[in-house]
Amino acid sequence: MLDYVIFWDWVAFAVRWLHVITGIAWIGSSFYFVALDLGLRQRPGLPAGAHGEEWQVHGGGFYHIQKYLVAPAEMPEHLTWFKWESYATWLSGFAMLAIVYYAGADLFLIDRNVLDVSAPVAILISLGCLISGWIVYDLLCRSPLGNHDTLLMLVLYAILVFMAWGLTHLFTGRAAFLHLGAITATIMSANVFMIIIPNQKIVVADLIAGRKPDPKYGKIAKTRSTHNNYLTLPVLFLMLSNHYPLAFGTQFNWIIASLVFLIGVLIRHFFNTQHARKGNPTWTWLAAAILFIIIMWLSTVPKVLTGEQNVSSAAEAYTTSTHFPAARDAVLGRCSMCHTQEPVYEGIYHAPKGVILDSDATIAEHAREIYLQAGRSHAMPPGNVTQITDQERALLVTWFEEAGKKK
Ligand code: HEC
Repeated sequence: MLDYVIFWDWVAFAVRWLHVITGIAWIGSSFYFVALDLGLRQRPGLPAGAHGEEWQVHGGGFYHIQKYLVAPAEMPEHLTWFKWESYATWLSGFAMLAIVYYAGADLFLIDRNVLDVSAPVAILISLGCLISGWIVYDLLCRSPLGNHDTLLMLVLYAILVFMAWGLTHLFTGRAAFLHLGAITATIMSANVFMIIIPNQKIVVADLIAGRKPDPKYGKIAKTRSTHNNYLTLPVLFLMLSNHYPLAFGTQFNWIIASLVFLIGVLIRHFFNTQHARKGNPTWTWLAAAILFIIIMWLSTVPKVLTGEQNVSSAAEAYTTSTHFPAARDAVLGRCSMCHTQEPVYEGIYHAPKGVILDSDATIAEHAREIYLQAGRSHAMPPGNVTQITDQERALLVTWFEEAGKKK
């Protein structure tokens, strides 16, 4: 029991670490290639089939890169592929989703005031969202709409706004944001896995067979790649947002999420324009800043709390434990001054991280967090400002472990 909780927390940390690393590798290479592509220069005398070239300097050497549009005349001897960065990011991200939101569905995925479902049902809804997001997106790109870049993006944006709104009616605010990010990131990875790489393979097969590859494959891949480019920044915001309850914990969280997509597009537009040497659209920063201020303002509108006092069946073992009264007293005495709707601790204005510990129900729901933050580790209270004693910490550990055994 004891070992399991600690082991699981470390597994979660390790997978998160991996996910961030693969994400950096994917986004890094993706940013690099987009900038390279936009910065290519044409000059007379480029080899046949070459579309442009670029000189770069990095890490003590000069690089001379040439892009062949559609393909070179012959298959080169060595070819480096960029695909595992994307696949590994999706796989580790999905593992993260399962570890945090599926294993911890009662606490993090399901909000019983929003949609009262069991953990398996919530998980099925989550999987359904990920899959249907891709299907709808892919069908739209393949439809006649796919020939109108701007119109396609506008329709996709309207769907994103609808999803942001819809997800907040299925899950907790935190999970809604994460799912919006995960659906978008699934689309991005599926673009690589289902479209960009398979198209590239057709072109390579044509080259090997001595056929002239059809330029349409490169063009389709480019559209998908452009979508990925504009979606990157909002996805990062949504993935990080679960550490910032102000972003997801309000009534207008879905509007906040929708605005973040606009900010991401504005900032990418600035860099894309600059890399294409087409000017310096600094207005995009002003527009992004204004949107960000609107987001800050929206975040101050509190979420209407409805009947949060019912203890869920999953948490009941913690309130019925014989150690509960003492554990509750310790939490009320050492934690609640900060972890409540309107904290009384000086300098704390909102429940930190949205963690509320001021009633039987909220304390029971957070038993695992209390155990990890204040029982096993000394992370809370910060700097032990409320002077929790070692006996009280030991008591929190006993309470959690004993109740856990009975579950
Ligand atoms: C002085 C105010 C204060 C007190 C007292 C306090 N906390 Fe916190 N708590 C914070 C702050 C601030 C954060 C956010 C820390 C951060 O930003 O990483 C936090 C975060 C947390 C989190 C979320 C951690 C995360 O990263 O998700 C938990 C759980 C928590 N506290 C539990 C407790 C428990 C249990 C106690 C009592 C034993 C306690 N806190 C006492 C201020 C306090």
